[in-house]
Amino acid sequence: MLKRFYKGDPLSAAAASPIASFYRPNWIEVDLAAIRQNLKILRRRISPRCRLLFVVKAGAYGHGAVETARGTAGRRASGLVDWLGVFFVEEGIELREVGVVKPILVMGSLYPFDSYAAAARYELRPTIASLEGAVQLAEVGRILGRRLPGHLKIETGLGRIGARGKTAQKIIDFMSRSPHLKLEGIYTHFACADTDRGATLRQLELFEEACREARGRGAVISLRHAANSAAALRHPQSRLDMIRPGLAAYGLMPHPGCAFAPALSWKAKIVFIKTASKGTTLSYGAGFRVKRPMRVATIPVGYGDGYPRLLSNKGQVLIGGRRCPVLGAVTMDMLMADVTPLPAAGVGEEVVLIGSQGAEEISVAEFSAWARSIPYETVCRLAARVPRIFLNA
Ligand SMILES: Cc1ncc(COP(=O)(O)O)c(C=O)c1O
Repeated sequence: MLKRFYKGDPLSAAAASPIASFYRPNWIEVDLAAIRQNLKILRRRISPRCRLLFVVKAGAYGHGAVETARGTAGRRASGLVDWLGVFFVEEGIELREVGVVKPILVMGSLYPFDSYAAAARYELRPTIASLEGAVQLAEVGRILGRRLPGHLKIETGLGRIGARGKTAQKIIDFMSRSPHLKLEGIYTHFACADTDRGATLRQLELFEEACREARGRGAVISLRHAANSAAALRHPQSRLDMIRPGLAAYGLMPHPGCAFAPALSWKAKIVFIKTASKGTTLSYGAGFRVKRPMRVATIPVGYGDGYPRLLSNKGQVLIGGRRCPVLGAVTMDMLMADVTPLPAAGVGEEVVLIGSQGAEEISVAEFSAWARSIPYETVCRLAARVPRIFLNA
């Protein structure tokens, strides 16, 4: 089929191709069944009364927020996910506008405060991180004549957003007494859940102290939540009333005894092949000098797509089931790879940048290590211009 795409009738070949809806052969496949399966594994780890908030911020970690949310929290997948988590109001509105009805927590601190009105209109649960924020949300509730639910963020050690000590108590008192607010949840976020058990448990203790304090002051809170993927898996005591996994649900956080499967693969096709002769150079800055005749494949993927320039002369791609080194500088739209050991490789041949081909695999973790980065950043940086194909939607 690949050969037909170039040599046969282009229209019929394109119609039969998985890339029929775009021309540039550079695309991301997202297997929604893998995400659902990962969520099931997480579900099995928690008690039946513990809720699961699936974090779909940043375009569902680059996987595609709308399809990922619909494929896991839509009506046909009901029961897998209780809540969704986004970072800012627009991310929540996008999901509401495509018909997602599950409760959505906006996990960023809302500023400017007029976004509270939009949050209320779309029934998004805002995070309250300051007394000023609580006062502003109450004012929106007063104007709308409604009691608006919010989740108070407690600072326990991440040092990002959140209230603590006397400020937290003031917010709790204000929210509990306001006729226009409902303190629906209280939460915190760990700094080192994947690396430091002691620090995580100290944060948990501070958080539980704040929850006890809130209850002692008469607050009725139905949801205490703290655990991201690593905490939910490694520190069961942190699961409380709800867990908030992201990475594990995308299959990007291995854990002993859990068969999480990565959902994302990044693929392309060779668009140009040449033989480079000894002494010639490749790419900007002449960053690779050819020492012996080589077959060089050009692949239409570059840093404009989120392929890190740090992988110049360093990354690898899979072609014909083999690892092929990236040659020279990664450019904005293209990169070159050595296909000398693959004399049959030609234009139209599939290339895997992330994922498996034959017995070989380039995992997001390996790819991230080449780029001195982490899986979170790698997937979030996959550019919007790379089309996503959703399998098992
Ligand atoms: C507040 C909050 N909760 C949960 C998560 C999910 O974390 P993870 O992807 O490590 O499971 C994030 C991600 O950054 C977050 O910011």
